[in-house]
Amino acid sequence: MVSIGGRNGATLAARARSSRVGTFAAMRSFASDNHAGVPEQVLATIAAANVDHAPAYGEDPWTARAERCFRDQLGEQAEAFLVFNGTAANVLALRATCRPWEGVICAASAHINVDECGAPERIGGVKLLAAPAPDGKLTPDQIDRMISGVGDEHSVQMRLLSVSQSTELGTCYSPAELSALSDRAHERGLYVHLDGARLGNAAASLGVPLRAITTDAGVDVVSFGGTKLGLLAAEAVVFLRPELAADFRYLRKQSLSLASKGRFLAAQFVALFEDDLWLSLASHANAMAGRLAAGLVSVERVRITQAVQANAVFAMLPAAAIEQLQERWPFYVWDEHTGEVRWMCSWDTTPAEVDALVEAIAAAVGG
Ligand SMILES: Cc1ncc(COP(=O)(O)O)c(C=O)c1O
Repeated sequence: MVSIGGRNGATLAARARSSRVGTFAAMRSFASDNHAGVPEQVLATIAAANVDHAPAYGEDPWTARAERCFRDQLGEQAEAFLVFNGTAANVLALRATCRPWEGVICAASAHINVDECGAPERIGGVKLLAAPAPDGKLTPDQIDRMISGVGDEHSVQMRLLSVSQSTELGTCYSPAELSALSDRAHERGLYVHLDGARLGNAAASLGVPLRAITTDAGVDVVSFGGTKLGLLAAEAVVFLRPELAADFRYLRKQSLSLASKGRFLAAQFVALFEDDLWLSLASHANAMAGRLAAGLVSVERVRITQAVQANAVFAMLPAAAIEQLQERWPFYVWDEHTGEVRWMCSWDTTPAEVDALVEAIAAAVGG
């Protein structure tokens, strides 16, 4: 029996350590795309990298191949630095762009604001200024409203706009929306950071190449997500404005994020880009979320609260149904104040699992 108490799964973790590990091992989860395993193609490429010896710290041929893949996807100016996880990618991107007296504008729901345990402030050493964004998306006018005290030594100087694509609420910025944000940010002297933990899901959903929502949309630095798409553990900080990358290798090492056996991080990205694996994994996860949303439309007493534009479905449903459902299908109560829940689909979610969940939800709410 498996259940999740809050959005970060404390109860789930506690129960996983309990005597119910057997059932836990068999679970299929809608709590997070991090709950899924790793596609065979990725494991096979890691195994292919596991021959002979290779130089450490990114001096190996696999890292060169991965860097080439990023340039092929995002343009010749793209400089990619591999790291272990998304929080490190974000914090490093902030550190690379902001000086200690500078700050970051982000959505209130941004992962850097609510889900990184204060690492951007503590480790990054920057102030975050969070703007309300009920659908997870910021607008150009909000940038203007968030900037004040320019040139005043008593005020933090805003230096970076950070947006998430797809957003933490499962929505996507169109290329035009992103370009408008970048234009306004640049006009106001800000760099633009994209938290792309689910960048692949956004590109797949929008039907555009990765560069359309990064390089071509005026983004300066990207936290490029691999893990949520299906990698074992690999993310990248990708600079699209070369001068920002100049001293980054020192920053990455000093910030504890330089892998010694870097070839194994790199091999994961090589697998992800080969034959557009990222696109098929992301498209599938998105399609499963679409199927779930479509199945719930006719279920009375369930209200979908956000546009379903990537691999997540947000909804309100009667509180009594939530706990009952979580016993069988782990998912997060996203907002403990409103009771809004999140169902997240993964690269390996099956149509049958989605249909079974819809059926269970309908039964639990008495629909
Ligand atoms: C939007 C977003 N950014 C960044 C991260 C951070 O990833 P990690 O858990 O690998 O640090 C997550 C993970 O949930 C995320 O959802």
